Amino acid sequence: MIKILMRKAQCWGYKVIGMLLILKISQIFRNMGMLEKYDVMDTVAIWTKKLCVSFIQGGLSSANDNIKFEVDDKYLFDYPVLDLGTGNGLLLQALAKQGFSDLTGTDYSEGAIELARNLAARDGFTTISFLVDDVLETKLDRKFKVITDKGTLDAIGLHPDGRAKRVMYWESISNLVEPGGLVVITSCNHTKDELLQEVEEFGMRKFGKEDADRGAGDSHQIFRYLDHVQTYPTIMFGGVEGSQVCTVAFQRV
Ligand SMILES: C[S@@+](CC[C@H](N)C(=O)[O-])C[C@H]1O[C@@H](n2cnc3c(N)ncnc32)[C@H](O)[C@@H]1O
Repeated sequence: MIKILMRKAQCWGYKVIGMLLILKISQIFRNMGMLEKYDVMDTVAIWTKKLCVSFIQGGLSSANDNIKFEVDDKYLFDYPVLDLGTGNGLLLQALAKQGFSDLTGTDYSEGAIELARNLAARDGFTTISFLVDDVLETKLDRKFKVITDKGTLDAIGLHPDGRAKRVMYWESISNLVEPGGLVVITSCNHTKDELLQEVEEFGMRKFGKEDADRGAGDSHQIFRYLDHVQTYPTIMFGGVEGSQVCTVAFQRV
């Protein structure tokens, strides 16, 4: 009798373990499927437009809020966009679909710019400008109201001298964006909080130097955090919940 009961208990134990395993595996596949279906490019474009619309409507409400989304596209013409490290240029195409019309993409790779031009011509986006330019030694002599970067700061950070190059990057974009303008950074290598900390450190470093030169001033902000995309799917890894990608918006002070 005891043997039969023990065998039954063992059987139930295996069943419970099996069920838990199936649940865990299906959760992993669900997470993967969600990310595959999720279009980061479109999310960034739509979210950036929402951010600009909230500016046009005179507020700084979160782009995640349900703001009234209708705005005449002609106002977006006043929002020139520079996409740094544009690669294939598809983010600019997604922004064009959202109504932005003054669009420039730069990349230090001639091959990338040629590809971006060809894809834009193929897809009928003939007004997007593409230029070969290294953001760390930029030759651009105009300022933009919106700067987007999807994966470029990540790429720059992979350089053996990545830390110094990233400081050069922030320095460069602080000159490329208009005062009050937006910088929208999408990263797969860094969390929102890491980007916030980097921006804070950049401000301290820059103002520390300028303050020392001038002997005045207590503000140390060059960019201030505005908002971040809150709709990316999250995954569980090692018991910690997080997202594989983050998009953060800063405003040039
Ligand atoms: C990860 S890819 C992202 C491409 C594109 N933004 C996208 O989302 O598909 C990084 C891009 O940054 C470009 N890049 C890296 N360092 C750069 C620099 N210093 N100046 C300009 N472009 C750079 C690379 O050539 C590459 O096209």
